[in-house]
Amino acid sequence: MLKTDFDDARTEPYGPPEQHRELQSTNPVALLDWAGRGRGVWAITKYDDVRAVLSDFRFSSDRSKPDHPAHAAYSPGTIQGQIIAMDPPRHSLIRGRVMGEFTVKKVAALRPRIEQIVDEAIDAMLAGPHEGDLVEALALPLPSMVIGELLGVPYEDHHFFQTNSAIYTDQRATPEERTAATAAIREYIATLVDARLDTPGVDILSRQLAAGATRDEAIGLGFLLLIAGHETTSNMISLAVMTLLDQPELLQQLRDDPAILPKAVEELLRYFTIAEVGGLRLATEDLDVHGVTIPAGSTVWALTNTANRDPEVFPEPDRIDFSRGARNHVAFGFGPHQCLGQNVARLELEVVLQRIIDRLPNLRLTVPVSQLRFKEHGNFGLYELPLAW
Ligand code: HEM
Repeated sequence: MLKTDFDDARTEPYGPPEQHRELQSTNPVALLDWAGRGRGVWAITKYDDVRAVLSDFRFSSDRSKPDHPAHAAYSPGTIQGQIIAMDPPRHSLIRGRVMGEFTVKKVAALRPRIEQIVDEAIDAMLAGPHEGDLVEALALPLPSMVIGELLGVPYEDHHFFQTNSAIYTDQRATPEERTAATAAIREYIATLVDARLDTPGVDILSRQLAAGATRDEAIGLGFLLLIAGHETTSNMISLAVMTLLDQPELLQQLRDDPAILPKAVEELLRYFTIAEVGGLRLATEDLDVHGVTIPAGSTVWALTNTANRDPEVFPEPDRIDFSRGARNHVAFGFGPHQCLGQNVARLELEVVLQRIIDRLPNLRLTVPVSQLRFKEHGNFGLYELPLAW
């Protein structure tokens, strides 16, 4: 094993740690010590290899296996429907049943409602003091409202729902606070599912139950959709806005040609690749990657962040280039577990950026980027984004 410690903390906000980048050119399938985790980890850093690992189910996502690197986060109460934590055949069955809810066409129909939520948040920003935290004012409430409505959370419960999911996704929360928030959300979703079993509504959970999902599966799915779609999108919104304000030439490009917005969103997703931990897997047999045999039972980490900076695929990878139009990035993962909610995330990002450009022409950072507090573990993002407008 290499003696280099593999630290999963992101220390450089704009890109993968230098150590991972070196591996990409010198040792693309590297067995490393995993700092503080008491186990080795195979770090996979090249784009093609990352895609190969993520598209092969023999690199297992089944977190109920005690050897799985994400087993600690395994939660038996909700795991039933958590497709992110399972392998076929259950994965294919449950994902197949819910996929139709997230097609481009279905998601496009959410646009007017997303625009309304964003407009109301901006109205509130304009009505109050012209200074505040964008995470609290917009970046976190938007994905929370959208998921809540998709799941059929009644409006009057939104506050409870948002408060608890904010605690769940806050890396600074104590373990006790997170456990309490997890239990509260799980119990809430269970109550929602039970109500839908009695009286079906026009929401995803009701349709899943009608399509044959068990109660546990519906609870697990509701829980996963909430968690997977919430903090990730919020982080991407605040990082995208931060970048446009910090690099005004990029903002100007969007002002000059709003039609490039979808490409800009794609490029920002590639550039930040916030959900790195999505690439953790367990090798279930001896498996070959890039000519190296990874033994059965090994922890494997397909580093999507480094893959998205692979110069053989993305020339000048450290430059934000809106004209790149790269939809082949792996910021949403790759293969069978590729993000189910990616169309929702793209739409939310597009609407937020468009509305901010149109309605908040004086938006500016009130502290330099070097003083912002970034999340280092798990999903990359910002704790807060202090702005004036
Ligand atoms: C899976 C990223 C937003 C729901 C994933 C994976 C990644 C990812 C990398 C793959 C994990 C793996 O391979 O183990 C992101 C990013 C987002 C985002 C960067 C925002 C910018 C959303 C939203 C939703 C969502 C808005 C729901 C509405 C899911 C679900 C899975 C998933 C259900 C599991 C899919 C499966 O295992 O088959 N996401 N996600 N995500 N995401 Fe997202």
